[in-house]
Amino acid sequence: MKRLNGSGETTEKTAYKCQKCRDSGYYEIEKDGYTYSRECECGKIQRDRLAGRLRFATIPKEFEGQTVDNFQTDCYSTSQSRELAKLAKHLAKQYIEQFQEIKETGKGFYFHSGVKGSGKTRLAVSIANDIITRYMVGAKFATTIQILDQIKSTWGENSRERNAGEPVNEHRLIDDIISVPVLVIDDIGVEKPKDWINERFYNILNGRMIEKRITIFTSNYRIGELQLDDRIVNRIEKMALPIEFPAESIRSAIARKENSDLLDRLLGK
Ligand SMILES: Nc1ncnc2c1ncn2[C@@H]1O[C@H](COP(=O)(O)OP(=O)(O)OP(=O)(O)O)[C@@H](O)[C@H]1O
Ligand SMILES: [Mg+2]
Ligand SMILES: [Zn+2]
Repeated sequence: MKRLNGSGETTEKTAYKCQKCRDSGYYEIEKDGYTYSRECECGKIQRDRLAGRLRFATIPKEFEGQTVDNFQTDCYSTSQSRELAKLAKHLAKQYIEQFQEIKETGKGFYFHSGVKGSGKTRLAVSIANDIITRYMVGAKFATTIQILDQIKSTWGENSRERNAGEPVNEHRLIDDIISVPVLVIDDIGVEKPKDWINERFYNILNGRMIEKRITIFTSNYRIGELQLDDRIVNRIEKMALPIEFPAESIRSAIARKENSDLLDRLLGK
């Protein structure tokens, strides 16, 4: 979209997320009379590469457009829950503000609560959303089950069919998962502990830890309660700041509200 700026010249500034490469992923430099093409630091090329190979969503449909700012803290019923939610939101906001410096440390979050539906996934995804829009960093979302399913789908002779087109081998898939700059691993702890699962998680998390990639975990278990290998648990401790979520289900509260609205409507109130 072309428009006039203050001094009267046309500008295409608002049309691109990255002005440097105009969202093409490459920009040109002139040197010694030659023109060279360079991969842009905004990471467009890397994002496209990953988008093509990893089946996981960038952001699940249910949470599209959700931001940390519109994460509510007054919907919890007890003051203790509201305080926990406020603290989690405050930390998330500060994390995004200071993301450029924090990302060098490789530290993410570990959101946990024994109660389901308390907002863990909602806030984790909101952080990813905000980081994508504000810093244009590539982010992905996957439940542990999706990660394990995609790994399993690379096994066996017909993996080529199941991954449409390019055959995906397990090593490359794991390398891809390691290289996602920001990864939300949702619901860690639901998987049944098995040797092959421990081994894959170890490879993924160890790789991400060494490369200082940001991982945000959600779980119904505290880190110490996870039924995974100690060496995995140790790595999670190193990679993420544990944050307790309220022991209260907003999912149930929303369901109750929806049902009562529906009832009112049906009764013509
Ligand atoms: N603080 C909040 N503000 C707005 N909506 C919320 C909030 N917390 C939860 N919700 C909504 O409630 C539903 C459940 O939240 P969410 O999926 O984040 O829970 P969870 O803690 O990840 O649950 P589970 O343990 O089952 O994975 C979602 O639809 C979410 O959008
Ligand atoms: Mg969840
Ligand atoms: Zn760019």
